[in-house]
Amino acid sequence: MKKLTIRDLIKKKLAKEKITMLTAYDYPMARIISNTPLDVILVGDSLGMVVLGYTNTLNVTMRDMISHTKAVARANPPQLIVADMPFLSYEIDTKIAVRNAGLLVKAGGDAVKIEGGEEIKETIKAIVKAGIPVMGHIGLTPQRFLRLGGFRTIGKTKQEEEQLMKDAMELEDSGAFSIVIENTYADIAKKITEKINIPTICIGSGPYCDGQVLVINDLLGLSDFSPYFAKSYVNLKEIISNAINQYVNDVKNGKFPEKQHYKERES
Ligand code: KIV
Ligand code: NA
Repeated sequence: MKKLTIRDLIKKKLAKEKITMLTAYDYPMARIISNTPLDVILVGDSLGMVVLGYTNTLNVTMRDMISHTKAVARANPPQLIVADMPFLSYEIDTKIAVRNAGLLVKAGGDAVKIEGGEEIKETIKAIVKAGIPVMGHIGLTPQRFLRLGGFRTIGKTKQEEEQLMKDAMELEDSGAFSIVIENTYADIAKKITEKINIPTICIGSGPYCDGQVLVINDLLGLSDFSPYFAKSYVNLKEIISNAINQYVNDVKNGKFPEKQHYKERES
């Protein structure tokens, strides 16, 4: 299959064809995704929570992101691979941000995603100038949960709503090729989607966006906790537990290994 590009995503917006994105953090999942019509794989810093067991994303490092981006890239998927820039990899200095974005591309990312609005304009411009496509991320930005006062819906006040629209326009202006809108009201995401020319990809922000994204562990029923806006299509936790229980029982009852699982020499 032909590799999807950022230009294909913009064409999909124009054609009103929905864009689909899911997170993936490792090689086996990326291999499975490779044979599906999904458009974009996000190596999200949500890996800190759903794979590494932290309670938020602040502890995710560049090393983590590089390692997991490499694992996904080794699967050689036709999907566009977007790698999240982790907390403190882009806020300190524009030069550091460009280098870190470059490291994620060297690891196999086709683009990077950065949380924030107009305050990171110059950073986005510098990364784009280096030839690296940037996806924005506004609304609930989990790396700022301390300042936001928790993981909450953004846009309740007129001021927050206006800031969201402003952020979206500034990101487009800075050269971002797409924007994730997380956890805001559906009517706000709709207004932004109609206003800007780059695709909006939403999570917990309603159906009026150009695309949708979910954390794959939520979709597969692997998470201990899923937000209300996630939909699970299968209960893999239960399927995996059943398989482990059967294995333990089989070993204890002498039902595993069977004849085909071992070699015996003639005596
Ligand atoms: O890290 C992540 O999974 C994300 C998505 C929720 C958009 O940023
Ligand atoms: Na993220």
